[in-house]
Amino acid sequence: MAQPRVDTPLESRILPKEFYEPFISQSSNHRIEDPIRALLPLEDSPGVISLLAGKPNSETFPITSMQFTLRDPVTGAEKPIALSEQELAKGLQYSPSAGIPELNDWLIGLQEYSHGRKRGEGWGLCFGTGSSDLIYKVVNALLDPGDVALIEAPVYAGIVPMFHATRCEIIEVGGDSHGTDTKGLRELLENWPAGKPKPKVLYTVPHNFLILEDDPYYYLYFGDAPRPPSYFTLERDQPEVGRVIRFDSLSKVLSSGMRIGFLSAPQVIIDAVILHTMTSNLQPPTLTQVLALRLLKEWGYDGLRAHVDRVAQFYHAKRDVFEGFMKKYLGGLAEWDTPEAGMFFWFKLKINEGDAGEGDSEAIIRTKALENGVLALPGTVCHPGGQKTAYVRASFSLLPPDQVEEALRRLRQVILDARAEAKAEKAA
Ligand SMILES: Cc1ncc(COP(=O)(O)O)c(C=O)c1O
Repeated sequence: MAQPRVDTPLESRILPKEFYEPFISQSSNHRIEDPIRALLPLEDSPGVISLLAGKPNSETFPITSMQFTLRDPVTGAEKPIALSEQELAKGLQYSPSAGIPELNDWLIGLQEYSHGRKRGEGWGLCFGTGSSDLIYKVVNALLDPGDVALIEAPVYAGIVPMFHATRCEIIEVGGDSHGTDTKGLRELLENWPAGKPKPKVLYTVPHNFLILEDDPYYYLYFGDAPRPPSYFTLERDQPEVGRVIRFDSLSKVLSSGMRIGFLSAPQVIIDAVILHTMTSNLQPPTLTQVLALRLLKEWGYDGLRAHVDRVAQFYHAKRDVFEGFMKKYLGGLAEWDTPEAGMFFWFKLKINEGDAGEGDSEAIIRTKALENGVLALPGTVCHPGGQKTAYVRASFSLLPPDQVEEALRRLRQVILDARAEAKAEKAA
């Protein structure tokens, strides 16, 4: 089938519903609606007296008022905010599996504000209990045992168990601080064995499969160049629109304990996820959605932007402190690219000298570093195949400078000891 031209109107470039049929998993196709939740929207029909759901009577709820104090993102002034009676009642009660409509609407507007994707242009939005919940559900909506998933590695280790549980075949695609190894990816696809099922998804980056764009750090960008556009933005100008499945999160910018993530995707995928929510945890918590809605409406999109810019600057300063101590203690003992977003350094330990290979950070980090009182993530867990790697992930989000210094001082000693040991072994 000829692809539509990029300059044709967007409506004619939106992939049709049938496009997604071969992508949806058996278990998703077998999911049926929660019969009570399916009837719930009818409660709002005019004149209806509902005897339907097991909603507890809010008169019995012990919480009678709720207030919080909100810092203005521009002036820093603090303002008390009280939830109204209706907001509190709504927050303490069950709500739709897709999320409360007003917050849904606000976040659809945010996607237009941040990514230029307008409502009604072939995508929808729903919430999960954090973006993890949504990634888990999308992975289950798409993958059957034996399906192939391409995963850009190193990857956020938290998603690896989600893919494993589907019994899909995971193929790693290389990546570095500039993104996916597109040359390697092209070679892999061009030499794909005849008869082997084609990959269904790639966890980040385009080709003829669905793209899972997991981007909780989007707003924590502090690089000098303009913020790189999201895949969600880029696909708007592609000949076909509807391959990007985007995961956002309020965890890193408002609160991780609120557990609010949101999914922007073709409606077929949104429907599959809502069905999953209906038949698992019913819905994400209403109360945190009401809180988030009140706060976001208080700020507006520009206020949110001002807030996330401050948050990004906060992590920028933390990064600089961390890197200063990296240079001081790990100079010559590790290699890294300076991160321009997020809250992690991904660095390679220079364990072996000469031609002994890069070595493995696992034992050093999991045992020796821990014995010396430093906890970091060994890079091997960021490779779905568990391959050996000299890389380590370290977070710079929380620690004050004196603790960063102490942690890196300890790590230096651990690396020096490991190097001495490797040298002695080689000589023996
Ligand atoms: C890349 C990535 N994706 C997803 C998540 C999960 O975030 P949430 O709190 O929205 O579930 C994290 C959290 O650390 C992450 O680093």
